[in-house]
Amino acid sequence: MELRELLQRRRMVRSFDATPVDPEWLDALCAESLLAPSAGNSAGVRLYTLSRALVPDFFNAATDETWRQRSRRAAGLARCGAVVVVTSRPGDYTARYGEPDKASSGLDDIASWPLPYWHTDAAMVTMALLLLIEEGGWHATLWGNFRRGGDVLTLVGARDEELFCSVLIGRGDGHDVPSTSLARKVPPRRDRVRRVG
Ligand SMILES: Cc1cc2nc3c(=O)[nH]c(=O)nc-3n(C[C@H](O)[C@H](O)[C@H](O)COP(=O)(O)O)c2cc1C
Repeated sequence: MELRELLQRRRMVRSFDATPVDPEWLDALCAESLLAPSAGNSAGVRLYTLSRALVPDFFNAATDETWRQRSRRAAGLARCGAVVVVTSRPGDYTARYGEPDKASSGLDDIASWPLPYWHTDAAMVTMALLLLIEEGGWHATLWGNFRRGGDVLTLVGARDEELFCSVLIGRGDGHDVPSTSLARKVPPRRDRVRRVG
């Protein structure tokens, strides 16, 4: 599939039909997504894959009972066929930028970073992964890290890492509850491109 077509087609899907994702295929896909750019080649992003059997454990860690009972999306999301937890290791970046060829940056101290590149790298990998999932004929939604991140990290056994997001993967069953975000009026894409010169 053409890259442009992939970009057009990829949309968040939040209700799945419980088809399991093949773990070997998913691990290979995740490794491919790590072809994404990495600041200083720090390579500090990690991907944890959870197969269909572990999806209930993921939801137990990532959500609470109230959400599971009240959210109109809970059942559809819980039918995803696998989860990828995307994390990054800030220490890899401070160590890399302390190496002789980068030491002049002063970024060996975490407090000096104006923009945490570990999150940037994680976003690059996540976008590559979303496109690869689309190309593979699967669907996905991205959950940001805004609640119970510590529990998710504990579940996957990540140490000294920061949670970036979780990608829920499956085959869409067509029962999505539309995101309120999509109803927002946003400036047209072309208007968000400003030619300076
Ligand atoms: C950093 C980030 C965090 C997001 N967090 C969530 C989330 O927690 N739950 C969710 O359903 N969608 C989440 N989304 C998906 C956005 O809502 C979605 O990308 C946006 O509404 C545009 O829709 P589209 O991706 O289908 O084009 C997140 C997206 C990004 C980039």
